[in-house]
Amino acid sequence: MSRRSTARAAVLCGIGGWVPPRVVTNEELSQRLATTDEWITTRTGIRERRFVEPGEATSDLAVAAGTRALRSAGAVAPDAVLVSTATPDRPLPATAPLVASRLGLRDAAAFDVAAACSGFVYALATAAGMISTGASRRVLVIGADVYSSIVDPEDRTNAIIFGDGAGAVVLRAGEDDEPGAVGHFVLGSDGTGEDLAIVAAGGSRQRTTDRSPTRAEQHLEMQGKKIFRHAVTRMSGSARQSLAAAGWKPEEVDHLVAHQANLRILQSVADELGIDHERCARHLVDVGNTGAASIPLALDAAAANGELRPGQRVLLTAFGAGLAWGSCVLRWPDLATTT
Ligand code: COA
Repeated sequence: MSRRSTARAAVLCGIGGWVPPRVVTNEELSQRLATTDEWITTRTGIRERRFVEPGEATSDLAVAAGTRALRSAGAVAPDAVLVSTATPDRPLPATAPLVASRLGLRDAAAFDVAAACSGFVYALATAAGMISTGASRRVLVIGADVYSSIVDPEDRTNAIIFGDGAGAVVLRAGEDDEPGAVGHFVLGSDGTGEDLAIVAAGGSRQRTTDRSPTRAEQHLEMQGKKIFRHAVTRMSGSARQSLAAAGWKPEEVDHLVAHQANLRILQSVADELGIDHERCARHLVDVGNTGAASIPLALDAAAANGELRPGQRVLLTAFGAGLAWGSCVLRWPDLATTT
């Protein structure tokens, strides 16, 4: 059998992003919370974020980003749709089948990937596996989250960090030496950190209690300082392993696209790896932490404004609740951008 028929690497061939139009500035937040623009920008780097309108859900953002990614990828329809999200439309069913149907992808395999802010890298790895086994030829991978639905608007620590958005890519079967081939995935988790970022109510565990959940239990509770430290350790550790597997030196990386959690986290990861801050994506300044959407949104923005060019070496790394983390690498392909 020829190499071409067996290699089946997953190759990125389309990209798109979407954030809702409603801009929420630091100034607006400081009018209703005990915070300031100066505190937020100094501690996080974030200047503004986007929130959905009441009634808008994760699938709405996922469809908008998915539409753009499909347009960028050209005419061939995917046979599978993965939606990575921590804020599905409902506990049941999964959000992906609805998204696939609204995109006109009849009979596509469709399921959600739950790995919080690492979800996009986990979903990429899953899609790459589906392609390499031959289960799929072409997969739409979407990261989408509406954090404004689980963050308590009165909680000044969390309300300043998160924003809503969706980013999507299309992967097709191809060769592992092509630009766009994603690979050298390193994934990991540590469930002993479950309490460090948690929405306690709403699942099967909470149903076994005989009382109504408190306000805190219904919203995201986060131990920011501990999450900060774990995020730096796990993103830099997995990224280093990914680079070693790829045979790339840190100084050869053109773009470090880390989960957009906090500018100080991103810069600490870059420092740990020995990568200049200038090569570090900082899309969070404009959109905050958009959860599973953050990496594809940052890629889409960098591709659209010409920072990301064909042939460049890109390192992706993510960390989130779980705890869960993951990294991978690719050379940027020549893509049509639609943003
Ligand atoms: N405005 C003003 N003050 C605030 C504030 C806000 N929005 N939020 C918290 N504070 C206060 C705290 O109450 C605390 O006050 P105290 O010293 O009187 O107790 C003080 O600021 C310092 O809080 P601390 O938690 O030590 O700040 P920090 O420098 O660690 O920054 C985070 C807080 C949340 C911004 C930071 O820990 C962080 O980004 N962590 C990672 C979060 C993250 O990225 N999560 C997603 C990962 S997937």
